[in-house]
Amino acid sequence: MKSLLRLQQRFICTRTSLSNNWGSFDSNVTKLCFNKLSTKKEIETAYEEYKDGKFDQIPDPKQLDHFKNKPSSVAGKPPPGTHTLPHPIWTKEQLVNVKITSKQPEGKVDKMAYYSVQGIRKGFDICSGFVFGERNEKKWLNRICFLETVAGVPGMVAAMARHMKSIRRLQRDYGWIHTLLEEAENERMHLLTALELKQPSLFFKLAVIGSQGVFVTLFTGAYIVSPKFCHRFVGYLEEEAVKTYTKCLEDIEHGPMQHWKKRPATDLAIRYWSLPKDATMKDVILAIRADEAHHRVVNHTLASMKPDDFNPYDPGK
Ligand SMILES: [Fe+2]
Ligand SMILES: [Fe+2]
Repeated sequence: MKSLLRLQQRFICTRTSLSNNWGSFDSNVTKLCFNKLSTKKEIETAYEEYKDGKFDQIPDPKQLDHFKNKPSSVAGKPPPGTHTLPHPIWTKEQLVNVKITSKQPEGKVDKMAYYSVQGIRKGFDICSGFVFGERNEKKWLNRICFLETVAGVPGMVAAMARHMKSIRRLQRDYGWIHTLLEEAENERMHLLTALELKQPSLFFKLAVIGSQGVFVTLFTGAYIVSPKFCHRFVGYLEEEAVKTYTKCLEDIEHGPMQHWKKRPATDLAIRYWSLPKDATMKDVILAIRADEAHHRVVNHTLASMKPDDFNPYDPGK
């Protein structure tokens, strides 16, 4: 209570330096004091009114200059996606020539990775209700947003694990870290692009928090034990991602998502993939699918290499 009174005293006596945004509270404060400290009784009365819920006498914080963004910081703030790492920009031929592929598992590690991904995919399809009923935009956005929150994890965890190993063992990294970070950021851009079309519900946010907690923990443990398993796992995961986005493109072409042939691409997508100004959401999904096909080949390649082999992928390639 004492600290509240002290706060209110300071608040009231600096009123002359604030501008016109006080609303009805201004006249109330004017009655209370003229550039002088309020009496203890006046403050206690105001406090009682506040406790009684007379909020119309309290200014909206958003209207106070103190809480407003300064114009210079808004003007100087770059839009999302302008400070990203280098990444491939796909040609038209590359976009349309993406094929669904499946690498035959060789050996125990590959089989473990393959069947883990198949199990997770089938479980997720059923639990998320994606396989039941008609597909529509809401279902697609839910699926894309949720899966991309998961897809952004492996690259970051793997990059961190290799970074820590390098500084712990006082050894070089052989050039893997930048590729893994690029992948993590690329997945995050997929998520941010889809989020421009979706307002996540509280349930959705809780599901993301829960799944991130579980997946980050498991993937970190798995990467410490077997990086090969993890990269193979991501390779198979990306095979599924290519299938998913191919199905989305089929729905855009002939199914319930045909309005995405005309729906304008989001600003972030146009900037990030250097798309033409009149690009549509179909172009965005084509670009995302090409990214997933790239992650597919990168992770299968990394899984087939020894941890101290040199990364064959240059930055942004
Ligand atoms: Fe993705
Ligand atoms: Fe991916």
